[in-house]
Amino acid sequence: MKMSRPRIIVEPNAAALATCAAQHLIARVTENTGEPAICLTGGSTPKRLYELLATPEWRTRLPWSRVHWFIGDDRFVPPDNALSNIGMAERAFLAACAPPANVHPIPTNAASPEEAATFYEQTLREFQTRHRSDNAPLFDLVLMGVGPDGHTASLFPGYPAASETKRWVTGVPQAHVAPFVPRVSLTLPCLAQCREMLLVASGADKRDILTRVFAGEDLPAAHAQSAGGETWWLIDKAAAPEPREA
Ligand code: 6PG
Repeated sequence: MKMSRPRIIVEPNAAALATCAAQHLIARVTENTGEPAICLTGGSTPKRLYELLATPEWRTRLPWSRVHWFIGDDRFVPPDNALSNIGMAERAFLAACAPPANVHPIPTNAASPEEAATFYEQTLREFQTRHRSDNAPLFDLVLMGVGPDGHTASLFPGYPAASETKRWVTGVPQAHVAPFVPRVSLTLPCLAQCREMLLVASGADKRDILTRVFAGEDLPAAHAQSAGGETWWLIDKAAAPEPREA
């Protein structure tokens, strides 16, 4: 997929980044008067956003009965495991705010990551058939992060999953970065089916990898983009690459 030039929003700090991300999420949900679908990301960066959504100020802005929540990747562990991405989101806001029927976790109780991937792909395709007419995008918003090696979701550089072009969900038997557990991940073509992709990164330890991604290095995070919708990088000042010499 041709890499479009990323559009970048720089917020002063992590708190402002979470507020901006919440505004993008609310806007996308508000636009969809049917069944909005949000694809969450894992890792630590989005936790502040998730906790914000559960606060009285923000909670009232979402039509919780209509919004559906998915996860872009997960570690192949039970939801009550501290490593679980959906478990983190549940504990941060979903358990308090969303009807359980609207939360669609990757079934990590399946026999294997591959079996979980097959089941989740069925879930996504069924949701599309039931709630998306014609060629309306599957997701209204896809949240993504970026790892120090340039991975996004659980699509690691050089791994087959990162170059999958047909399947929507795939198993990742091992990870070369912590946590070293098997994963299940949506693929780039699936994640691209969105009105907006919002890639979030915060903190000085992301500066180096963002420099490489924004320079167009062949990395999964650099290839992540909406197909036909908007792609935004939302970062804070600490993560912003040094301005390049003119
Ligand atoms: C995961 C995430 C992963 C994450 C990046 C950044 O399962 O770990 O989906 O892609 O977004 O690793 O993680 P941090 O936000 O913790 O830096």
